[in-house]
Amino acid sequence: MRNFILISLLIPALLAINSCSTIQSDKVYRNGVVVSSDKIASEIGVNALKGGGNAIDAACATALALAVTYPQAGNIGGGGFALIYLADSQKVYYLDFRETAPAAATTDMYIKADGEVDHQRALWGPSSAGTPGTVAGLYELNRRFGSKAWRDNVQPARLLADTGFFISAPLADKLVEYSEELHTYPATAAIFFPGGKAPQAGDRLLQSDLGSTLIAVETDGRDGFYLGETAQRIVDYCADNGGLISMDDLASYFPVWREPVVFGYRNLDIHCAGLPSSGGIVMGQILKMLEQFELERYTPEAPQYMHLFAEASRRAYADRSQYPGDPDFTEDLTEGLLDRAYIASRVESIDPNQATPSADILPGLPRGHGESDQTTHLVTADAAGNIVSLTYTINRTFGSKAVVPGCGFLLNNEMDDFSAAPGVPNSFGLIGGEANKIEGGKRMLSSMSPTIIFQSGQPYMALGSPGGSKIITAVAQTIINYHLFDLTIGEAVSVPRFHHQWLPDKLYLEQGGYDINTIQKLISMGHDVQERSRYSEVMAVGFSPDGAFMIGAADPRQPGGHVSGF
Ligand code: DON
Repeated sequence: MRNFILISLLIPALLAINSCSTIQSDKVYRNGVVVSSDKIASEIGVNALKGGGNAIDAACATALALAVTYPQAGNIGGGGFALIYLADSQKVYYLDFRETAPAAATTDMYIKADGEVDHQRALWGPSSAGTPGTVAGLYELNRRFGSKAWRDNVQPARLLADTGFFISAPLADKLVEYSEELHTYPATAAIFFPGGKAPQAGDRLLQSDLGSTLIAVETDGRDGFYLGETAQRIVDYCADNGGLISMDDLASYFPVWREPVVFGYRNLDIHCAGLPSSGGIVMGQILKMLEQFELERYTPEAPQYMHLFAEASRRAYADRSQYPGDPDFTEDLTEGLLDRAYIASRVESIDPNQATPSADILPGLPRGHGESDQTTHLVTADAAGNIVSLTYTINRTFGSKAVVPGCGFLLNNEMDDFSAAPGVPNSFGLIGGEANKIEGGKRMLSSMSPTIIFQSGQPYMALGSPGGSKIITAVAQTIINYHLFDLTIGEAVSVPRFHHQWLPDKLYLEQGGYDINTIQKLISMGHDVQERSRYSEVMAVGFSPDGAFMIGAADPRQPGGHVSGF
């Protein structure tokens, strides 16, 4: 952590002249910080802290504000996962507010008469939506750990919807990019293309239907969404348009407190989302395999490091295709998948100089066994030392693209995260089978990886990312960049990233990120290398060892990403 020692000596100079190119993007704060994908939402979160709220209130306020100002992914029609660290008890809590399959959902619901998967129905409109979890999740976070009244967390978002906000350039660009898709649904087009035109950056966007839904949520808490008029509108819209969500599905939705996945990596204790997210398991497998190698000898762009990382990923994602699923429906194999002897057996097959074809790697036999691009991550931290690391999503950019008429919010298309048929890739190219098949009331397997890390018992780093299947590798690489390659938080989130997920058997490199020598070396090692344009968007906070200050970093890949603090 020499960065922190350096930075602490430099703080006054940094604040005064802000001219150090390496650290410029890293913001240093003592009293609280919020990092999110949108400037207004980060500022709303900091307002919550300044108004006497804690990190949990700030996370709720930020997430609700994102539902208004960042409709690509911010939501009340989706779901997610949160890790919460409470400084008083020094405990990490994990809340699962993932969507569930409606009770009427069936394993073959997306299989057409010709036996093919109907990707259209799995990804578009109400037929692709799971029962949303966001409002119940945020309400539960506030109920259990917040220090402010629920309505204080909702009110700023409701005001943004009712009185409008000035559209950011990134949102204006996204609306143009997705114009055709969003025009498929009249209620969606009416909101985001007022007067039939794409709004310009700086135009004010009013969302009065969303404002009305938020008033119900502000006044009646979770019941304002899951019972009464809002619920009825969701159900009626689904019934008329091929969706399955019923009043019963909504009334019986509940978030679940679960145990996070916890594993050691070098001298760090890493806490990450457990099932029904695969994030903690897959990241744990990758990092535990890599622990056997002296990675600090390398740099983030060294082919040897990239090769070892890709080989560990290949093996971990092979297991992901078979074992993990909603633990309330399938056997929870977390322990076996992270077992020391099992990891060692997986490492044995890694050739340090040559890629193993994915065809030669099958999911292993752990002990105990008989990405488009929008999701969003936020981190909040307060002066008392509490931290929230929260990832939530409506799955693809603008979710199912369908706004519930009269309610003003987009429904998710999270059902595509289930395995619609064995071996058939979903929109992130991920395949799955029995453990992640569709069943009524079940939660679809996720890759979301909200993470909080400790060193010697003290908070060290909190981070997460969107990116579908690429989330896990992006978060793991950021941890290695920061911890082993000794980059600043800002550098750690910014440097080029790469990704391997077993199938397809390709090593994806961020476009323009790697020089020809690196690329040729990786090819000579047997990797099928392909460039891809964007690599997830990591939001992170680093903490000084004494807890005296924190540094936020928003990934420059997210043009709206913003660190706010005081
Ligand atoms: O839960 C998951 O893994 C996916 N629904 C996340 C989607 C996502 O990250 C899209 N953004 N890039």
